[in-house]
Amino acid sequence: MTKPISGFSKLTKEEKIDWITTNYTHNKEQSKKILQTYWNQNGRIQQLHDEFIENTITNLYVPQGIAPNFLINDRLYAMPMAIEESSVIAAASKAAKFWLKRGGFKTEILGTEKVGQVHFLFKGDPAKLNSFFTYLKPILLAESASLTTSMQKRGGGITDIALRDKTHDIAHYYQLHATFQTKDAMGANFINSCLEQFASTLKKEAANYTAFSAQGKNVEIVMSILSNYVPNCTVRAMVSCPVEQIQLTDQLTPQQTAEKIIQAIEIARVEPYRAVTHNKGIMNGIDAVVLATGNDFRAVEAGVHAYACKDGQYRSLTHATIDDGIFKFWIEVPLALGTVGGLTNLHPLVKLNLEILQHPSSEELMQIIAVAGLAQNFAAVSSLVTTGIQKGHMKMHLLNILNQLGADENEKTILVQYFKTNPVTHHGVELQLKEIRK
Ligand code: MEV
Repeated sequence: MTKPISGFSKLTKEEKIDWITTNYTHNKEQSKKILQTYWNQNGRIQQLHDEFIENTITNLYVPQGIAPNFLINDRLYAMPMAIEESSVIAAASKAAKFWLKRGGFKTEILGTEKVGQVHFLFKGDPAKLNSFFTYLKPILLAESASLTTSMQKRGGGITDIALRDKTHDIAHYYQLHATFQTKDAMGANFINSCLEQFASTLKKEAANYTAFSAQGKNVEIVMSILSNYVPNCTVRAMVSCPVEQIQLTDQLTPQQTAEKIIQAIEIARVEPYRAVTHNKGIMNGIDAVVLATGNDFRAVEAGVHAYACKDGQYRSLTHATIDDGIFKFWIEVPLALGTVGGLTNLHPLVKLNLEILQHPSSEELMQIIAVAGLAQNFAAVSSLVTTGIQKGHMKMHLLNILNQLGADENEKTILVQYFKTNPVTHHGVELQLKEIRK
């Protein structure tokens, strides 16, 4: 059995690779080769990646593609998307093209407020805590001033700090609930630094507050951390057109298609099993651009799904109506994003992707990414209510199946042609490959 290791992080990269391949793989030399195959040939770029995280041994790439023709607020964008799922970029491109001819996407920022909290226990007199907080608030702001100067110069900073009584949930539990504007930065470091300063000011000032009993003076800080739930950092993206332009299939009239889309959205509003998959499809688009622009997709995922159940039930993030013969389809999502700081200044490909997106501000990026989610959902729901999802999905998956089966370039060309007019199944591809190999 493999023994635990201590001091792994102190080993050199080669030693780490040697240890992992010796202890956890059956063919050490081959495993080393695979790891090395994914190293960047440019030593400087590889070093950047090595230094992004601890214990780097290689890079896991995800393909990056472009979905062109996104008309957003009358400006044309090409969307860089990093994703491994075969059909996502094709679906996004199809939706972009569809709406390009129908006026494109319109977007609106609904808010850009970020949140952070200091969670603490206070065992003194609750009434005295309120007057203490009135005394404390200006000191919290004054003592964090050195942290906020440059953010304030950029137009951001702390917008409010409130005391929240959470003792109905947990005995003695209170919060400093702070709100922030972080302009083009995602703001996690800024917010966390402010919160840690608030915590130490709170502790110090409580200890010296003469009106508190000994117990009251001993505030216990549990933790200080930003929240990835950002219900007031949201964006709306929308498309609309006359119903008669919702022509997606010869089998249904535009009116029937539009109504079926609305039915699908209504199902995702009321039925959580469907809503999760519906929103997963939205995240196919959102995550792909979040990743391509060096943003934190885990933060976005967590915030989006919490927002999807803000009224107590998990629901669709998209909505659709027909009003006076006009089909409207829109999304509202929380997106805490940055276009400065973090990977955005460091990762050459992320920088390039931001250039492709015309150097967006974080608000512009929120709008672009909400559109990616809306487009993806339109493509998925359109397929689901017409042809079904497998037709397009399996077509895009065909090359993966052919690669799995070891098809050469010539076989791929023949079979891609063949499956243009035949349904793709794993078994069907296997049979056809055998057939042409005869
Ligand atoms: C697959 O990655 C995403 C879909 O399942 C989304 C949906 O069902 O709406 C196609």
